Amino acid sequence: MSEYDPRRDAFDSFNVAIAANRAKLLADRCPAAKRVEVIGQCELYLGDCMEILPALGKVDAVVTDPPYEIAAAGGGMGAKRKYLADIDGKIDAGFDLALLSAFDNWFVFCGKPQLVKLISQAEGQGLRWQIVTWNKTNPTPLTNGNYLPDTEYVIHAFKTHVWAAKSRFIVGPVEKNDFAHPTVKPQYVMAQSLRRCSSGGQSVLDPFMGTASTGVACVKSGRSFVGIEISEAYFDIACKRIRDAYRQGDMFATPAPAAPKAEQIGLDLGSGDQ
Ligand SMILES: C[S@@+](CC[C@H](N)C(=O)[O-])C[C@H]1O[C@@H](n2cnc3c(N)ncnc32)[C@H](O)[C@@H]1O
Repeated sequence: MSEYDPRRDAFDSFNVAIAANRAKLLADRCPAAKRVEVIGQCELYLGDCMEILPALGKVDAVVTDPPYEIAAAGGGMGAKRKYLADIDGKIDAGFDLALLSAFDNWFVFCGKPQLVKLISQAEGQGLRWQIVTWNKTNPTPLTNGNYLPDTEYVIHAFKTHVWAAKSRFIVGPVEKNDFAHPTVKPQYVMAQSLRRCSSGGQSVLDPFMGTASTGVACVKSGRSFVGIEISEAYFDIACKRIRDAYRQGDMFATPAPAAPKAEQIGLDLGSGDQ
């Protein structure tokens, strides 16, 4: 156990008081938020992002894993995912793409039914776009007469790609985790996502934060973070994860798989720009 350090204690108390003050200021500015927490460089809002977003300022990037459109009824994978019945449409009902209109750099995970809509949204905003994929190396071996469920898509809409990571694919396993949420993204996926659409020191918004996988990756990589979550249970997990991330310093909980060296060849539905 480390020795008690009164200066450290005073410094920590000071920071807690500043954060509480800032959270109060933000809550006053955003009455739609049921709770606001400020932890280090992160602002976390409990509530509906559609109501909270108008009260927030500008950010450098939106990085989010919103509710996918998944059929919980009927056959196929959707029917097998029993948890969908428990979550009241908060994870499987899609989302209102209009919220993206205020941003010119967004990196949005999606399922196949949302691909075309997100591409239309990007084109409607006059942005360039690219399909990025997360290729899972350990997919559920259920094919149901179809391809393996080994790919998740991202539409990245942007003006100019000035960021460090240029590859269109992220490769690695689905990971187990201890968080009571059905769709937690692995840290390596979020870390590699951030590098494709933002730089260190910039601000990132996740309006569908869940357990704050995006936020934790921001803390670990020196970005500031704004997260919104509608479920209080997930919001509490998010707050704890962000606090733990600051406590752990800059060590990743799980090492990221090596980034792929080759650029994907083929699948480019864009207007000819690579
Ligand atoms: C796919 S999950 C995100 C999971 C997250 N990537 C993680 O790793 O924990 C989408 C989240 O959006 C939340 N959500 C759904 N509708 C919302 C809304 N209108 N405003 C804010 N959050 C919402 C859900 O409760 C859910 O936790």
